[in-house]
Amino acid sequence: MNVILLGPPGAGKGTQAKRLEERHHLVQLSTGDMLRALVASGSALGVEAKAVMDAGRLMPDDLMVQMISDRIDQPDCKDGFILDGFPRTAAQAEALDEMLARKGLKLDRVIQLEVDEEALVERITGRFSCANCGAGYHDTFQRPKVEGVCDSCGGTEFRRRDDDNEATVRARLEAYHAQTAPILPYYARAGVLQGVDGMAEIEEVTRQIEGVLGRA
Ligand code: AP5
Repeated sequence: MNVILLGPPGAGKGTQAKRLEERHHLVQLSTGDMLRALVASGSALGVEAKAVMDAGRLMPDDLMVQMISDRIDQPDCKDGFILDGFPRTAAQAEALDEMLARKGLKLDRVIQLEVDEEALVERITGRFSCANCGAGYHDTFQRPKVEGVCDSCGGTEFRRRDDDNEATVRARLEAYHAQTAPILPYYARAGVLQGVDGMAEIEEVTRQIEGVLGRA
C-alpha cells in the first residue's frame, strides 16, 4: 500500500508515519529527513538546503522529485511506503503521478491531517527527538516514559530542529497555504483523499488512519 500523509507543519505527519511504519511494515519516506541528512553531510547542496529550510521556504521541485524517485526504487519500498512531506506543490503532485505510472505503482490513499493551526506553533516549538534513533517527543504531549531516556533505544541525547522556532514556523505555514494546500482538490477529484482529525490524541489519530487504510 502506498500512502501520502498531508498536512501543515506540526500536523503529526512524522509521528503518524513512524507508527504506521512499525505496525504495518510500510517505509516512511520523509523528504524533510532526507534534506536534514543532506545538511549534515556538509555538501554544497546541503548548505543551500539549510538556508532554504531555516527561512521556511521550499527546495526546488526537480530536486525533490528525483530524491523521491530514487528512494522508491530501493528494495525496502517494494511492500509499500508512506510519503511524509512530499508532494508539497502542484508540480510535485503531477510528477509523482507520472513517476508512479512509469514504475507500475499506484497511490492508494492521501490522508489529510486536519488541524487547528493555532495549536501548531506550540506543537512545533515543544518538539524534540532522540539524537540516536530519531524517535520523536514533545515537551508536553509526548514525553519519554523515563525522563531523559529514549523509549525506543535507551539513548540519552536529544536534539531540536533549527527551523522549529516561531518565526520559521509562521513562514512554513505560509508556504503550506500558498503551495501545498492547493493540491488537496487535485486528490479529492482523483477520489483518494480522506481527512482524519489531527487534533485528537496521537493514538486516536493512528486509529482513524488505520480505519481509512482498512477501507482502501
Ligand atoms: P519537514 O521536515 O517535512 O517539516 P514539516 O512539513 O514542516 O513538518 P514537520 O516535520 O514540522 O511536522 P509533522 O507534521 O511531521 O509533525 P510531527 O509529527 O513532528 O520539512 C522541513 C523543510 O524541508 C520544509 O520547510 C522545506 O524547506 C523542506 N522540504 C521538505 N520537503 C520538501 C518538499 N517536498 N519540497 C520542497 N521542500 C521540502 O509533530 C509535531 C509535534 O507535535 C511533535 O512533537 C509531536 O510529538 C506532537 N504531536 C503530533 N501529533 C500530535 C497530536 N495528535 N496531539 C498532540 N501532539 C502531537
